[in-house]
Amino acid sequence: MPSPPPLDRLAALLPPGRVLTDAESLAAFGRDWSEIHLPPPAAVVLPRAVAEVAAVVRFANEHRVPLVPSGGRTGMSGGAVASAGEVVVSLARLDRVLDFDPVDRTVRVEAGAVTRGVQEFAAARGLCFPIDFASSGSSQIGGNIATNAGGLKVIRHGTMRDRVAGLKVVTGRGDLLDLNRGLVKNATGYDLRHLFIGSEGTLGLIVEATLRLTAPPPPRGVLLLAVPALPHLLDLLCAFRAAVALSAFELFCDTSLRHVLAARRLERPLAAVSPFYALVEFDRPDGAAEDAALAVVERAVAAGWASDAVVAQDEADCRRLWLLRESIAESIAPEDPHKNDISVTVSRLPAFLAEVERVVRASYPDAPVLWYGHVGDGNLHLNVLRPEGLDPAEFARRCREVDERVFEVVAAHGGSVSAEHGVGLLKKDYLGYSRSAAEIAAMRGIKAVFDPNGILNPGKLFDTAEEEPT
Ligand code: MLT
Ligand code: ZN
Repeated sequence: MPSPPPLDRLAALLPPGRVLTDAESLAAFGRDWSEIHLPPPAAVVLPRAVAEVAAVVRFANEHRVPLVPSGGRTGMSGGAVASAGEVVVSLARLDRVLDFDPVDRTVRVEAGAVTRGVQEFAAARGLCFPIDFASSGSSQIGGNIATNAGGLKVIRHGTMRDRVAGLKVVTGRGDLLDLNRGLVKNATGYDLRHLFIGSEGTLGLIVEATLRLTAPPPPRGVLLLAVPALPHLLDLLCAFRAAVALSAFELFCDTSLRHVLAARRLERPLAAVSPFYALVEFDRPDGAAEDAALAVVERAVAAGWASDAVVAQDEADCRRLWLLRESIAESIAPEDPHKNDISVTVSRLPAFLAEVERVVRASYPDAPVLWYGHVGDGNLHLNVLRPEGLDPAEFARRCREVDERVFEVVAAHGGSVSAEHGVGLLKKDYLGYSRSAAEIAAMRGIKAVFDPNGILNPGKLFDTAEEEPT
């Protein structure tokens, strides 16, 4: 049993009131949206300056105190939970916008800046920060970077990785690295910035980022199609992609839709009930783009790829249709679903889906299964709800068993067991389905370079050699 951290010394490093130990803060900051319930952290630290973050890391190395970096805690894989009484370092108070450059079209922000705030800052300057999720109102830039978050417009704008022009991190050694500094071209060897993107707080604490903004989007068109069978999704994707400039191509099943309609007290968007729906967003700078999209709809209905469609008439309609997709996670959250976030290359989706469907149908005959996700990125969310009356522990055991079978299919297709939610605690046992032993060994080696004492987010992503059960 490790000895408790000397919190009095930690508190002495920071101005008063920045080390919290009250039960409410410990409970709130020790958890993320994965809702894993674990022992509370030893304390929560709220640094307000990079020098304070560095001081906390020095303290952690000196006293061998494990730290858990924490952003908006909207993660779904337990990457920001305190699993063993660690000290949580919340970046929430480091939330300033530091600099804006209209020529470079970049904004420099501290790690705790909330995604929605950055979007609004960019919009007020005639630009756009295009990374967007249902959790934009609470997710923070540092957390988005640490998990390489994707979201709803990846087919157009990529993931966080594509937006980060520069990054400042305090490594587990306590070094402050100023990586890439906003450069577009920089051929000076290893681009360390990319090691920290998606590292889930295991290598360093992200304290600042320079983000690339885009031109504001043109007016959009949104339409919803009723899709009778999953294999038609790729026909639809290819047809729309050839005809219009797509910015999103999303899927949800009727069970997902029913949950949203019930939770939000909404009417069905289409008269017909269909097993699946595709939500398509495209640039609509003029009437020609809309005509081109409508021509695809006609073709799709004639070919049997879609059985019905509704086209947004104005921006309010666009928002109404998007709400059906964006509200799914929130609508099913009260049922505590078992979540999977898997991906393959888009071209493999039909074969992959057919195989996963077979596994899922055979394995969960009595459980409601929900499909939704970002088909345009090859990313599917497979959510399973506990059948009424089934003991929660038995449900969890069954889900673990089925996960292995699903991940075998993922591996056979060269896919990922975590497309965008991260690995954290929940997926680390399955990392080997997506990463080779040599890759995981290389990751451990990189961890040892930046965090030699293993103080940063221990037990997340993978176990280091010492943590591994023997
Ligand atoms: C989504 O696509 O809605 C989010 O990734 C959340 C989820 O998968 O539940
Ligand atoms: Zn998603």
